[in-house]
Amino acid sequence: AAPRLEDRYGRRIDYLRVSVTDRCDLRCSYCRPRESAAGDYAEPADWLSFAEIRRVVAAFARLGVARVRLTGGEPLLRAGIVDLVGQLASVPGLRDLSLSTNATQLGKHAVALKAAGLARINVSLDSLDRACITQVCGRDSLAAILDGIMAAKAAGLAPIKINMVAMQGVNAHEIEDMAAFCIEHGFILRLIETMPVGEAGRSASFLPLEPVRARLVEAFDLQPCSAELGGGPARYWQTRDARSQIGFITPITQHFCASCNRVRLGVDGTLYLCLGEEARVALRPLLRSGADDAALTQAIIEAIERKPHRHTFREAPQRITRFMSQTGG
Ligand code: GTP
Ligand code: 5AD
Ligand code: SF4
Repeated sequence: AAPRLEDRYGRRIDYLRVSVTDRCDLRCSYCRPRESAAGDYAEPADWLSFAEIRRVVAAFARLGVARVRLTGGEPLLRAGIVDLVGQLASVPGLRDLSLSTNATQLGKHAVALKAAGLARINVSLDSLDRACITQVCGRDSLAAILDGIMAAKAAGLAPIKINMVAMQGVNAHEIEDMAAFCIEHGFILRLIETMPVGEAGRSASFLPLEPVRARLVEAFDLQPCSAELGGGPARYWQTRDARSQIGFITPITQHFCASCNRVRLGVDGTLYLCLGEEARVALRPLLRSGADDAALTQAIIEAIERKPHRHTFREAPQRITRFMSQTGG
């Protein structure tokens, strides 16, 4: 039989998110503490090496995981990231290697990433207004981000998804403009509800997306879309010509845990079993104690059995003290 990873609730796990750094050049209000340092250049000894990351990814792939997404912090700040993409692209069994980025460094890496075997990217972009981006991201970075997105498009990374964390009183009034921008350029817009992950996530403003969805369906004449547009939790709608899609990611108002298909590897080798729970297993000690592949596989299978049923963002919004930048969203 084909290998499969399944948790106690019968959910098939076939998507691994790999954080390759917890550092970032931006300070998005909902993600990281404002005062956090940029981080120096030296890599801590507890970060997994590329060989260790590839080994873990290969072990997951042998268990049927076909999708891998590189995240951060900002993954393009990890030195040698293009080489890592190349090393992962050749792992047998993977069919969807993607990356989530803030795009500030994408202009210089897009062509090389594509050549190394990256299939597609998702980009965080919360506004098209320079002042708003400067406010939300803590840096005047709009021009660099747009430059990066256009470089990715020119390099043939496709599809490009734009992630917009929708916030009342911050960028809510810009959603229609962002939708029009994405439709014009052939990007898939995803609107995201703010999650109370870390102090930053808790203090950011929240906007329930159901009324927004109703508004956009009306304004852009959208229909439900059943095409598979990635492996994630977004629910998609599309224009009548089926050329443009808008996705809604609603962890708070309509959670999607029943169909969860993923776990997350932190840069220090911690396997996080749910974005909204503390359950985790440290794989680094195993990797560094000479364990063989059979032992690694067994540890992964046992870890998946500890995957929580669902997050408790509503019942226990104070629970997650780590920041989003630690698990890469
Ligand atoms: P695709 O493969 O393109 O569908 O990617 P994705 O949407 O899974 O990944 P991306 O990194 O672009 O994440 C978009 C948003 O979805 C971020 O805010 C993530 O934190 C959120 N997200 C992704 N996976 C999960 C999940 O399992 N649970 C919750 N609650 N949120 C998630
Ligand atoms: N709530 C929802 N989404 C978040 N992201 C980061 N922090 C949060 C949060 N608290 C998103 C980013 C990025 C994606 C990987 O995670 O916007 O696009
Ligand atoms: Fe899966 Fe946890 Fe995300 Fe729910 S919150 S979809 S269980 S990772």
